[in-house]
Amino acid sequence: MSQNILVTGGAGYIGSHTVLQLLLSGYRAVVVDNLDNSSSVAISRVKELAGEHASNLDFHKIDLRDKPALEKLFASMKFYAVIHFAGLKAVGESVQKPLMYYDNNITGTIILLEVMVAHGCKNLVFSSSATVYGSPKEVPCTEELPLSALNPYGRTKLYIEEICRDVHQSDPEWKIILLRYFNPVGAHPSGHIGEDPCGIPNNLMPFVQQVAVGRLPSLKVFGNDYKTKDGTGVRDYIHVIDLADGHIAAVKKLADPSVGCEVYNLGTGKGTSVLEMVTAFEKVSGKKIPLVMAARRPGDAEIVYAANGKAERELKWMAKYGIEEMCRDQWNWASKNPYGYEKSA
Ligand code: NAD
Ligand code: UFG
Repeated sequence: MSQNILVTGGAGYIGSHTVLQLLLSGYRAVVVDNLDNSSSVAISRVKELAGEHASNLDFHKIDLRDKPALEKLFASMKFYAVIHFAGLKAVGESVQKPLMYYDNNITGTIILLEVMVAHGCKNLVFSSSATVYGSPKEVPCTEELPLSALNPYGRTKLYIEEICRDVHQSDPEWKIILLRYFNPVGAHPSGHIGEDPCGIPNNLMPFVQQVAVGRLPSLKVFGNDYKTKDGTGVRDYIHVIDLADGHIAAVKKLADPSVGCEVYNLGTGKGTSVLEMVTAFEKVSGKKIPLVMAARRPGDAEIVYAANGKAERELKWMAKYGIEEMCRDQWNWASKNPYGYEKSA
């Protein structure tokens, strides 16, 4: 019989792709999302893409902080595990509204863990981030590097990781996998689901995509005086489908009796500069992206990329896609849905 997986934030960018991969791998997925930063159209599109597996997906519009609603859901069915994506993620906004971030991300997580334990579900996969490495003193970033946070968003990830370690320490029946994502980009190759940020995008590729479809005039390159190959910042971009598959590997790993509270980087292990990324996107889209050189963005690290050996060894997972495929799929999604979910055909 297929296992029920609860996916918080499953209507969002990474969540929707992961839900699809879960369904295609034979799991039943129950999504909880308040739709604060997503659209229910994403859920309908996932169902379309899932074909014969579509009936294995249920959606509930619930805010994680609504404990009675969460209790009711857990009382109605048994979950094998929870994949916990739900959270706010805009770094700049977190500096302006720290209490909103602490309340949403940390209170939401505490309520989720309380309800899980009350209903005997102690298997968790959590969306952490490479942001917990702060400005790393060395690269590639191994899971053992010292942790720090540069802003309230990053602190929510760091604190939730610590909360998970404490929870596991207090009760070893918990099995927790903390996944530190590097820079997710791209979209499902069908172009039917992808990233649809509200307002002006903060991240590089959603911004590039909006320039390409004519919604924004040019890309500001934040700093071209870094000590990198071409002076621009270097990151480890990972195709969102590879990232989604990393979650399937993590859910499978939960069955391993040796799992306690584990942490894994999900990245490709390769660093790519802003200019390399833009050039790759221009090549696959045939669109020129006008650039404006600008000052460094405060708080930005120079070079960040993952050591991916631990995930490869222990999760038996490795990214399959390269930069060209990431840009191709980003453009496919953008050209089919230039205004995201709500306004697309
Ligand atoms: P997203 O905003 O597209 O998805 C998050 C989803 O959570 C949204 O659908 C939102 O409506 C929902 N949500 C937020 N607060 C909620 C609450 N209190 N109750 C119910 N639903 C709630 O973001 P994403 O890019 O898919 O990121 C998913 C997770 O991965 C987040 O925790 C994020 O911090 C983390 N992460 C993302 C990145 C990235 O670059 N995208 C990198 C590292 C880590
Ligand atoms: N960049 C630009 N112009 C832009 C946007 C970004 O030049 O308009 C540059 C940045 O300076 C950086 C690179 O593109 O060098 C990537 O920037 P992103 O904002 O896309 O990604 P970051 O690595 O800065 O941060 C993202 C998320 C964080 C997360 C981190 C690691 O925003 O929350 O990836 O997962 F923690």
